[in-house]
Amino acid sequence: MLSAVLLSLCFSPAILAASGSRAERKDVYNRLGNLSPYHKAPAVPGIESALPNDCTVEQVMLMQRHGSRWPLASELVYIQNLSYKLGNASDAVQKADLPQSLQFLKAGYTTQLGHDNLTAPGRKQLFDHGVDFLLDYPHLHTDTIVAGGQDRVIESAEWFAKGYFGRYYPNSPPVNFTTVPEDSKTVSWITPMDTCSEWDYDYGGNATIEWGTVYLPPITKRLSGYLPGVNITDDDTHGALYACAYDLAAYGVSPWCNFFTHDEIYNFEYELDLLMDGAFGYGLPGQMGPILGTLYVNKLIERFSNKTGDAEELYLEFGHDTTIDQALTALGLAKDTPPLSAKGPVNPNREWRTSEQVPFAAKMIWEKFTCSKSLNGTSQIRLLLNGETFPLTMCSNTAEDRRFGTCAFEEFVRANAFSTNTSYGDAAWNATCGPATVPVQA
Ligand SMILES: *[C@@H]1O[C@H](CO)[C@@H](O)[C@H](O)[C@H]1NC(C)=O
Ligand SMILES: *[C@@H]1O[C@H](CO)[C@@H](O)[C@H](O)[C@H]1NC(C)=O
Ligand SMILES: *[C@@H]1O[C@H](CO)[C@@H](O)[C@H](O)[C@H]1NC(C)=O
Ligand SMILES: *[C@@H]1O[C@H](CO)[C@@H](O)[C@H](O)[C@H]1NC(C)=O
Ligand SMILES: *[C@@H]1O[C@H](CO)[C@@H](O)[C@H](O)[C@H]1NC(C)=O
Ligand SMILES: *[C@@H]1O[C@H](CO)[C@@H](O)[C@H](O)[C@H]1NC(C)=O
Ligand SMILES: *[C@@H]1O[C@H](CO)[C@@H](O)[C@H](O)[C@H]1NC(C)=O
Ligand SMILES: *[C@@H]1O[C@H](CO)[C@@H](O)[C@H](O)[C@H]1NC(C)=O
Ligand SMILES: *[C@@H]1O[C@H](CO)[C@@H](O)[C@H](O)[C@H]1NC(C)=O
Ligand SMILES: *[C@@H]1O[C@H](CO)[C@@H](O)[C@H](O)[C@H]1NC(C)=O
Repeated sequence: MLSAVLLSLCFSPAILAASGSRAERKDVYNRLGNLSPYHKAPAVPGIESALPNDCTVEQVMLMQRHGSRWPLASELVYIQNLSYKLGNASDAVQKADLPQSLQFLKAGYTTQLGHDNLTAPGRKQLFDHGVDFLLDYPHLHTDTIVAGGQDRVIESAEWFAKGYFGRYYPNSPPVNFTTVPEDSKTVSWITPMDTCSEWDYDYGGNATIEWGTVYLPPITKRLSGYLPGVNITDDDTHGALYACAYDLAAYGVSPWCNFFTHDEIYNFEYELDLLMDGAFGYGLPGQMGPILGTLYVNKLIERFSNKTGDAEELYLEFGHDTTIDQALTALGLAKDTPPLSAKGPVNPNREWRTSEQVPFAAKMIWEKFTCSKSLNGTSQIRLLLNGETFPLTMCSNTAEDRRFGTCAFEEFVRANAFSTNTSYGDAAWNATCGPATVPVQA
């Protein structure tokens, strides 16, 4: 029994898109920003993926994001509130005339999601990355693993290590598994914002609240149109979007994803881009974004130039999407002009793309390499982000650089003078972050 209202809705493009097949949904799964499951980044047009045959990778630094996790406790409430509301309104739900994409509600939708820790798909992503890394760099070795001190990061490093070292790890080979506390007492390139007093998550959080008042109401209207008597609010709609992303992160599938149109998912993706840009990127006030990321960039330059004489050929380190985003910001990569706006996307082809740059289990791999003839025979550097070259535009000076997205290492160092000129607790750091909270080393 279709009402006249529903019949007329059937012809609106939004509804046609929302009733897409499950196969169609696959392409929104990779558009869930930093909550997307791991997927390879798209190749950059015009950039060769493989280095010339005469090149040898001599040194590698991996910064590996943890795998898929449960929602953060702060996000889970939205899903739970929606779940409770639907549960308490089960009579109204049974009476409702629901489209195909919401039929699952008739059977009752009750969330069982946990919070914060790694999920089963997250374990698999990391095990697979450990195996792949060994196959990609069989000639490089290390006996050390460094993980940020959060449960999901530590567990991610463990699964990677199982894939990489095998079942007798950490005894054979012997491996030094070290954790770095994630707190305001530890200066760390994994969590640099934690030692910046002026840093505030709300720089990103407030932007997403503003954007939410723009993009959520039309979805709320559409959803509540199907559920008279349930009083669906924008917070519930937000919960349904989180449920799509996090059911997927935990179970590999979510009934909620089928309800949303592509554009609705892309607007949610924009919210996640805004959050990460605002709290861990170019959206932070003044120079805060670039300054935080200098801790990582300086460590990279220190190791690749063997400045302290004890550099190793391979570094396996485990952290967060925020680690990668802060590093990109110090490097001046993925920067948008004009900047992202809390009023909505101004540029559909924006550079800052958390879906491609920092999905769950994102891997940022830095290679130092030398070629016997190609690329001028000098030390070179390349960034591979999620399996594809991320061109180092700040120092690509020659035609060959631009073809491979690489730079002479010397030019890379020159281009990163902002980073090498900054250190924790120096004048620039204090001016941006407030007086250093951890004793500053001479
Ligand atoms: C969840 O529901 C509780 C109780 O009604 C309310 O206090 C809280 O603000 C809600 N949280 C969200 C995020 O909707
Ligand atoms: C009804 O709502 C309350 C709190 O808002 C919740 O604890 C309870 O589980 C809900 N009932 C159902 C059947 O979902
Ligand atoms: C995460 O796992 C650890 C180890 O089992 C446990 O101590 C912790 O309570 C878990 N955290 C959550 C939020 O479930
Ligand atoms: C393990 O690595 C940490 C950090 O680099 C270092 O402080 C510690 O001495 C190492 N332990 C062993 C047994 O090598
Ligand atoms: C976020 O918004 C709240 C409420 O408007 C405001 O008090 C706070 O200063 C804002 N925080 C930041 C970092 O902009
Ligand atoms: C719907 O929920 C909102 C937020 O919880 C509340 O302010 C409003 O009074 C409710 N409306 C109805 C009709 O129950
Ligand atoms: C760094 O320099 C030391 C001392 O010369 C050397 O033993 C070590 O192999 C170098 N590390 C790398 C990665 O080249
Ligand atoms: C080769 O590299 C050196 C050192 O960076 C530079 O001075 C020189 O101009 C480069 N030559 C070419 C042909 O790119
Ligand atoms: C280096 O830092 C000093 C002090 O913060 C600043 O005055 C100068 O402009 C910086 N130079 C560069 C190249 O960033
Ligand atoms: C930055 O602040 C810390 C803590 O007050 C202080 O020890 C340090 O000297 C300051 N740095 C500069 C360059 O003034």
